[in-house]
Amino acid sequence: MSLTYQYYFVNKSYPPPRDIYLNNAATSWPKPESVIRAVRDHLLAMPGESGRSTDELTLDPVQKARETVGEFFGCENPDNLIFTSGATQSLNMLIHGFAAGQGSQFHAITTDLDHNSVLRPLTTLADQRRITLSIIPSRDGYVHPADVRDEIKDDTRLLVINQGSNVIGTVQKIQEIHAVLKGTGIFLLVDGSQTAGQIPIDLSRLGADAFVFTGHKYLFGMPGTGGFWIRDPEAVQPIMQGGTGTNSADLRQPAMLPERYEAGTPNYPGIISLEAGVTYIQETGFDRIVDHQKRCINAFYEPLKDSDSMIRYHPSPDIPVFAVNIKGMDPDTAGFVLRTTYGIITRTGLHCAPLIHNQITAGKGCVRLSPSLLTDPADCQYAGEVLATLGKQVRASGM
Ligand SMILES: Cc1ncc(COP(=O)(O)O)c(C=O)c1O
Repeated sequence: MSLTYQYYFVNKSYPPPRDIYLNNAATSWPKPESVIRAVRDHLLAMPGESGRSTDELTLDPVQKARETVGEFFGCENPDNLIFTSGATQSLNMLIHGFAAGQGSQFHAITTDLDHNSVLRPLTTLADQRRITLSIIPSRDGYVHPADVRDEIKDDTRLLVINQGSNVIGTVQKIQEIHAVLKGTGIFLLVDGSQTAGQIPIDLSRLGADAFVFTGHKYLFGMPGTGGFWIRDPEAVQPIMQGGTGTNSADLRQPAMLPERYEAGTPNYPGIISLEAGVTYIQETGFDRIVDHQKRCINAFYEPLKDSDSMIRYHPSPDIPVFAVNIKGMDPDTAGFVLRTTYGIITRTGLHCAPLIHNQITAGKGCVRLSPSLLTDPADCQYAGEVLATLGKQVRASGM
C-alpha cells in the first residue's frame, strides 16, 4: 500500500468536515454574487450585437466592459485593451506577434519565476532559431535590475517578466526594471496574471509596453477570460485573423484597435463576468484588499512559526500565495491528506513554473495554498494549524 493510502486509512475522517478552498492562484472561488447575477442577467436577455447586426439599439457590452477594465488599469485609451481567452492566449499573441514583426533572429530575456505560458512560447521560438534566450535566476524571489542590465546584448529586443509569482507570492518592482531598459528600445512585456486584482496597477506609470492579465483569478471573472494592454500596436503583429463586424469587404485584418487583435464572436458572458468582477474590486477598494491579504498571511504563518517539521519557501510574500512542504512527506501525498481528511483544497506539484521549483524545491514541487479576498482568514489559520499538526505527526511516525 502506498504511503498516501497508509496515511489516509490511519487518519481517515471522511467526508471531511467542510470544504476549504485555498486554490485561488489557479482560479478563484467563490465568485461574488454580483458576478453571478451579471452573467445570469446577460444569458437571460436576448443577444444584442451592436455594430454587427440589426440590433443597433443595444449598448455594446464588450465596449462597456473595455471602458470599465481599461479605467481600472489606468489605460489612457480603452481601445488599447484587448480581450482574449486568458493570460495564455494573450502571452502567445504578444510573444509570437512580436517575433513575427522582427526581420532577423534576436535575443530575448525572461526569468526563472515565469510561468510555462511564457517559457513555452519563448522556448518554441528558440527551438525554431528565431530567438536566442536568456533566463535570469531570481534571488530570494526577486529579479534584480542589475541582473537584467548584465544580460542585455546588442540584439536584445524583448524582456518578458512575471510581476507576481504564482509559487511564492513575490511581486517584482517593474518600474525599477524598466529603468535599466531606458534607451535600449527593448519591448517590456509584463505577466500580471497573479497581480491583477491583488495590487493597484496603473499602466500609465508602470513602464510596460504590454501587460497581460487573466480574468478568472483575482478579478473574479469566469474561466476563459482575460486580455492584454498594448502601448504601440505597431510592435506586435496580429497572429489571429477573422471576422470583426467592421470593414468586411477587406480581406485583410483591420489595422485599428481593438479589431487588430480581436476576431470572432466575443465571449460575451465571460467579458461581462470580468467587468462585474472588476467593479466588485473597485467598490471594495485596495485598502481593504491589502488589509485582508495581511490578515491571511499572518493567520496562515503564525501557527507554523515555531514548526521545525515544515519547510516554508517564502514566508513573507507580497501577495498571499503560500508555498510549503512537510518534511518527510511528498507534496502530492500532503495535498491528498489535506483534501481527504481536512477538506482543504490546495494545488501541489510544480504549478506550471518549473524553473523556480528547480531553484527552491530541487524540482520536487510543493504544496501551494492561496486564499482570495473572499476567503475567511480563519480558514488560513486552520490550514496553518493542520499543517503544523501534520508535520508533527509525520515526524513522530518516522515517515
Ligand atoms: C503567472 C501566470 N501566468 C499565466 C497564467 C495562465 O493564465 P490563464 O489561465 O489565464 O491562461 C497563470 C495561471 O495559472 C499564471 O499563474
